[in-house]
Amino acid sequence: MAENISPSGAATGVVVASPQKENPNYFRHWIRDAALTMEVVFHLWLRAESQSEKALWEQKLKEYIYFSRQNQLAQTITGLGEPIFEADGKPFWGPWGRPQNDGPAQRAIALIQLAEVLLDRGQHEFVSTWLYSGHLPASTIIKADLEYVSHHWQDASFDLWEEVKGDHFYTRMVQRKALLMGSRLAHRLNDPQASQWYAKQAQNLESKISQHWSRKQSQIHITLNRVEGIDYKDSGLDSAVILGALHGEFGSFFSVYDERVQTTFDKMVRKFSEIYEVNKKYPQFGVALGRYPEDKYAGTHFNGGNPWVLTTLAAAETCYKLAANYSKINLTRAQKWQRRGDQFVQRVQFHAYPDGSLSEQIQKETGFMTSARDLTWNYSAVLTAAWARQQSSLQIQKAKGDPQ
Ligand code: NOJ
Ligand code: NOJ
Repeated sequence: MAENISPSGAATGVVVASPQKENPNYFRHWIRDAALTMEVVFHLWLRAESQSEKALWEQKLKEYIYFSRQNQLAQTITGLGEPIFEADGKPFWGPWGRPQNDGPAQRAIALIQLAEVLLDRGQHEFVSTWLYSGHLPASTIIKADLEYVSHHWQDASFDLWEEVKGDHFYTRMVQRKALLMGSRLAHRLNDPQASQWYAKQAQNLESKISQHWSRKQSQIHITLNRVEGIDYKDSGLDSAVILGALHGEFGSFFSVYDERVQTTFDKMVRKFSEIYEVNKKYPQFGVALGRYPEDKYAGTHFNGGNPWVLTTLAAAETCYKLAANYSKINLTRAQKWQRRGDQFVQRVQFHAYPDGSLSEQIQKETGFMTSARDLTWNYSAVLTAAWARQQSSLQIQKAKGDPQ
């Protein structure tokens, strides 16, 4: 993961989605992948045990910050909704599904956490210069992102899989989280009107998000009001539901503890268990999950529709969070969820290259790694799953009364 941040051949601060440069070319900076990765880097920085490790992560965070501000100031086709920048830092002008309005929200979520810690440590000047000042037009990254999100969440945009334009559960969940976190930060930094405005928009989003739940079909529908893009996602089932619950977690609202999320999760796992050969061939592991059942994308061509590493790891993380939650009320159930989480991880482990490296996809019949190699997001997903497991183990030990 670290090797994919400011790699040689790319501008400083670029987080490439993968080192692979062709078939497919992922040697570019995706706002979403980069933000998810840098949020993990922020936690590594907090957890660092040595000065040199701390300095390394701090350097990466700063480079990301300077680069992100340049992204915001660049002339692009869709402004802050632009999903990708070239490795040299220039805007990407090729045809693409744009805008993708989860990006600015994800970047705000990552950087607000950093800003809060820096403020706790008295670094007001760095925060007000780079991260948040109430000044308008926005001159800081978080402020610009929050202004964009709060004024554009009602616009249709492309989903995280970059294929459908419409209103998406995933995008809305991260937008809501960014606005709620942003409201808190604005309050702390003496920007009360903005704080209220962001909170109000988050509230408006909540009523829209609730519409994704269909009681009749007993599932959360990933996209409503499709306007363009692929039109064959008939089931409406999508791993982005658990990704949205995880990345958009703020309180219990549509979190992994929400029964509507759990019901959709179960339905999805059942579906994926039926459609991929590898799930039948190796039933001893957790079910390998794809993006959505009707998927065809194989990295370059549309003859695929494979399970993905990052979605299967999201399933593991979901289970670990449920395990931690149940530890307080039902130890047996907690242990069951923990084992279920481990099975999803073992699935990924089984299909990984011998050195542990992880490509984007798992070929659905052979089980070999396929599509972009060393996908950055995969490694950040390994870490967030591992941290969730640390947490659930701790809670389970506590519940057992073990002296740890
Ligand atoms: C590349 C995107 O990354 C992928 O998600 C999508 O399926 C294809 N382009 C087609 O739009
Ligand atoms: C395709 C995925 O669908 C999308 O979510 C991701 O941002 C890009 N690949 C880059 O990793």
